[in-house]
Amino acid sequence: MSLNLIDENKIKDSFASIGQEQIFRFWGELNRTERSILLNQLEQIDPLECQDAWKEINLLPTPVLNLQPPPAIRSTDPLDTGLVSMHESGEEMLAKGKVAAFTVAGGQGTRLGHNGPKGTFPCTPLKKHSLFQHFAENLSFFTKRFGKCPRWFIMTSQENHTQTRKYFEKNQFFGLDKNRVTFFQQGMMPAFSMDGKILLQEKNQLVMSPNGHGGSLKALVESGSIGLMEEEEIECISYFQVDNPMVYCMDPTFIGLHKASGSEMSSKAVKKLSSEERVGTFVQNGESLQVLEYSDIPQKISKEKLKNGSLRFGLGSIAIHMLERNFVHRVAGSEKTKSQGLKYHGAHKKVCCLDKEGSRVHPSQPNAIKAETFVFDALPLACDPLLVEINREEEFGPIKNPSGSDSCSSSEKLQISRNQRWLKVIGVPERLNKVEISPLFAPTLPYFLEQTSKFPLDLKKLSKESALIELQNT
Ligand code: UD1
Repeated sequence: MSLNLIDENKIKDSFASIGQEQIFRFWGELNRTERSILLNQLEQIDPLECQDAWKEINLLPTPVLNLQPPPAIRSTDPLDTGLVSMHESGEEMLAKGKVAAFTVAGGQGTRLGHNGPKGTFPCTPLKKHSLFQHFAENLSFFTKRFGKCPRWFIMTSQENHTQTRKYFEKNQFFGLDKNRVTFFQQGMMPAFSMDGKILLQEKNQLVMSPNGHGGSLKALVESGSIGLMEEEEIECISYFQVDNPMVYCMDPTFIGLHKASGSEMSSKAVKKLSSEERVGTFVQNGESLQVLEYSDIPQKISKEKLKNGSLRFGLGSIAIHMLERNFVHRVAGSEKTKSQGLKYHGAHKKVCCLDKEGSRVHPSQPNAIKAETFVFDALPLACDPLLVEINREEEFGPIKNPSGSDSCSSSEKLQISRNQRWLKVIGVPERLNKVEISPLFAPTLPYFLEQTSKFPLDLKKLSKESALIELQNT
């Protein structure tokens, strides 16, 4: 689309008025087409939001005077008989189609170094199914159980949207009804230099990056996904990150607890391994339940110990939430002021960009700040937010790094030991070295118990059982 001179001046003025005139440093060298590419990109960006983002990134943290460990419901045993009624009411919600699944998969996955969307990364120990296939099979279980595929929303970003869609198409949506799977893109934000200047990728193009998973709330509304949910009277959203194959994608007990407490946003928490673990920490700040991100939490708080030696603030976030549809609508639509909307955080990154002379910079040290909002910053805006402590070994085995902790191999180990524990629960005495239980057979421990009571496992045959349960002695 070509813009007229009035539009052109308006755009230039709006960025000059926030001190970002350097964007036009190479204007004189650009031809007409190149200029209009830049103007079209700038038209999609709100200069005032950029200004606010930079201010928020540089806000001094508000002094925290009276932080307390937050109250949490303990649900560390998925077979806890005290929670059976919660499981049942959650199942009822699922049977009525009141819950949608939602995966945030817009991140760049730079740490993992995988070539392609992170969801295409092989994650299961034997079959090496990808994260996306694994989640799809989780949802297939519920399709079979309740006769209808739960709606699945997948947030991508500009960088991986087409590849993600193509991956699903090529694999026939892993057996899911493709009309029940919705992809949408999250928003993008310009990246800043260390002194707050928007960086250029090309002489007529800004450096842009995904605006953080906090952007998912607005993107859910703007993509029409919330509208779709309204039409189908879907009430709540089971939110999880693409990087954790052990997540209970749909957890009836969690849904039941969330509903029973009247919470607008509920989160799962696990015991942190150490004060240094790279997870967010739950704290109670006056009336507000909050997450302090690992990059932001003051050491004095993260290291504080109780008399028994355990961490005072020992509950970590595994980025699993239940969100009420109406709450998402409200937060996404709210005016961005200090008390409403989600605050921008700054992430220091190495970014290839142009310097003042127009030469390309390939930095060896972080040279840029990316602006991101975090979905967990919605917790203090929620009525009656609920925190549920679960057993980390049951549901947390993320894949973030190429090796070491939170890597594919650490996740496989955790998946295998979880599967071994499940088998032990039903009295399987042998210790199989490697075991993979397909989510098509059972996506959670309570379902595993139910399934194996209906279809007892014949251990001798186990290694041959294909689609339903993959077990192998090695
Ligand atoms: C994240 C959480 C941390 C939590 C941990 C649990 C943040 C900022 N922190 O850390 O509190 O304890 O997971 O594993 O998220 N994503 C998008 N769009 C974006 C950015 C990220 O969809 O713009 C998605 C990624 O695809 C990924 C997830 O969000 O699935 C996490 O992002 P990442 O930046 O890797 O966060 P972590 O450092 O792993």
